[in-house]
Amino acid sequence: MNIISVKNYQEMSKVAAEMLIEKLSATGVNVMGLATGGTPEGMYKQLVKLASERNFSFKDIHTVNLDEYVGLSDEHPNSYHTYMRNHLFDHIDIPDANTHLPNGLAENLDGECERYEKMITDLEQVNIQLLGIGANGHIGFNEPGTSFNSKTQVVQLAESTREANARFFENEAEVPTHAITMGIQTIMESKEIVLLASGSSKAEALYELICGKQVTEKVPATVLQRHPNLTVIADEEALHLVNSVQHS
Ligand code: F6R
Repeated sequence: MNIISVKNYQEMSKVAAEMLIEKLSATGVNVMGLATGGTPEGMYKQLVKLASERNFSFKDIHTVNLDEYVGLSDEHPNSYHTYMRNHLFDHIDIPDANTHLPNGLAENLDGECERYEKMITDLEQVNIQLLGIGANGHIGFNEPGTSFNSKTQVVQLAESTREANARFFENEAEVPTHAITMGIQTIMESKEIVLLASGSSKAEALYELICGKQVTEKVPATVLQRHPNLTVIADEEALHLVNSVQHS
């Protein structure tokens, strides 16, 4: 595990964008797994800026997002489809057909999960997967207790996740109760993973991921200890428990 400690959110965003664009410039790297939420917003902003400054083209890149809320249309202001258009896709030259997110309005949700998983398999391998981390240790929307063998699936969001995400909605009641998410096994199959974390609310989960003695389904992110190519880019607040233990 490679840990990059940065000062704050802004530095995390810059370092991550620089790293991503460099990795995407390498030959053979053409499938990028994407996350949403508050954490990567600044990174997407920097990525758009860097791509424009360096004339970097996304026309041969495919993106696969981790998740989408069940019950929200692509056009819903809080859907992850909308998030991705607003923060990235509308500002780069990626063809629409190359961008992939689960369909939260599918009539047959299990069928949609199978379609999504097959689409990822058909792309062969996610070269680089971007992740955030939930305060409860979730990755994607795989909440505590999710099997490490899970593939793309429908999940019920933890109440704490709905509370945390209420900041993006009018109120908590509007936050969907379910989502479609890549499974833990799906995430672990990606060649390389870059996880971003900022702020003290992530400190406990990050401590378990980095220093946790047990790899346990109770804290899904601990599975990442088994990934052969993981980079964590985290700021001082998110790393404060890790640092306090290492310095004691
Ligand atoms: C988002 C996702 C989630 C978030 C996590 C942290 O696609 O899969 O795991 O990364 O909930 O969210 P923020 O960044 O809003 O704290």
